Amino acid sequence: MSVNERRPGFATRAIHEGDWSETVAEQPVSPPIWLTADYLYEGLDHYADVINERRPGFVYGRYGNPTHVALHRVLASLDGAEAAWSFASGMAAVHTSLTALVRTGEHIVAQRTIYGGTFSLLSKVFPDYGIRTTFVEPEAQAVADAMQADTRAVLVETLANPTFRVADVAGIAAVCAERAVPLVVDNSIATPYLLRPLEVDGVTLVLHATTKYINGHSDVISGSVAGPRDLIENRIRRLALDQGTTAAAFEAWLILRGVQTLALRMERQCATALAVAGALAGHRKIEAVGYPGLPDHPDHERASALFGGAGSGAMLSVRMAGGYEVAARACDALRIARVGSSFGSMHSQVCHPATTSHRQLSAKEREAAGIGDGLLRVAIGGEDAQDLIEDFLQALDKA
Ligand SMILES: Cc1ncc(COP(=O)(O)O)c(C=O)c1O
Repeated sequence: MSVNERRPGFATRAIHEGDWSETVAEQPVSPPIWLTADYLYEGLDHYADVINERRPGFVYGRYGNPTHVALHRVLASLDGAEAAWSFASGMAAVHTSLTALVRTGEHIVAQRTIYGGTFSLLSKVFPDYGIRTTFVEPEAQAVADAMQADTRAVLVETLANPTFRVADVAGIAAVCAERAVPLVVDNSIATPYLLRPLEVDGVTLVLHATTKYINGHSDVISGSVAGPRDLIENRIRRLALDQGTTAAAFEAWLILRGVQTLALRMERQCATALAVAGALAGHRKIEAVGYPGLPDHPDHERASALFGGAGSGAMLSVRMAGGYEVAARACDALRIARVGSSFGSMHSQVCHPATTSHRQLSAKEREAAGIGDGLLRVAIGGEDAQDLIEDFLQALDKA
């Protein structure tokens, strides 16, 4: 009896009987997760045609699947981009995007006050590949002065982690446009809800650690980049395939789910951050509150122009009078906000950048970046504003 005539064996049925390839007439509200690493084809030619891009289709998880397609569509749309690609982490997005633009022997200009992981990549890893970086203030003149004949990318964060100073995106973009140097903007903290950097002439790529607000629930590590189709699909995507930095399917699906509530979350979290910043400003145990939504903040005008009044982000820095000791006591006393390792979710989190997220900077580099020992980074979550304000005030009392 051939296998076609008899019932296949136990192991074969376990592998093949779970097939669901019928078309479903009813459209699911939540898209399916394409949790498949690989695909099956009609024959050798079919597979060869798809992998060689002679025919549309799917190849392998690292090359993307329908869940990724849906995610890339929404991310590109929110950033006003032609195309987007998603990555296994924000750092993967930074790494693949920059290595798509810069070769051995070439140069990058980057903002001095930048996420510690990005600083470490630029200052410790890239030099081993022969890529140099000059760190500057995120101002047009400083960027222009730092440019060299072989500068191939400029990198800035719109709202700098962890000081939340606002970069002169328009001025820097004008310098980059004039010299035809790609400007890469890490917009993880502002998010496309507040700012779509690609609308500014001279911005080439926008990056996000989608780990943060775009996902919004502290359950994903992922990143994305959006920009011109040719650059994204023919350079960044191809490099991501070889570097192996593409997002996993389940993570792509979680971001697709999380991004649906980005506007609701950002609206509320920005409003709460403004209320908390206002309540803490002027407190006797605080030297300065760094929140560009406060009218007396040095970047207030710039933030209003860039973000169009939609808010000033959901994060603030707090420089404690009394330095680390007082900061640590205040953090220990928090009951609702907690000491935590990330930001961008429903949970309010506080960290001490000098010893954690920005530990990669030397004491001198931290001083230049404005990251003193008394500085706390505060990420406002979705809790009630009054509860958070009372929590911070009681913690300050005990500090
Ligand atoms: C501004 C910014 N960019 C990039 C990253 C890196 O993202 P990930 O942790 O997902 O690799 C972070 C992480 O905190 C960040 O704050």
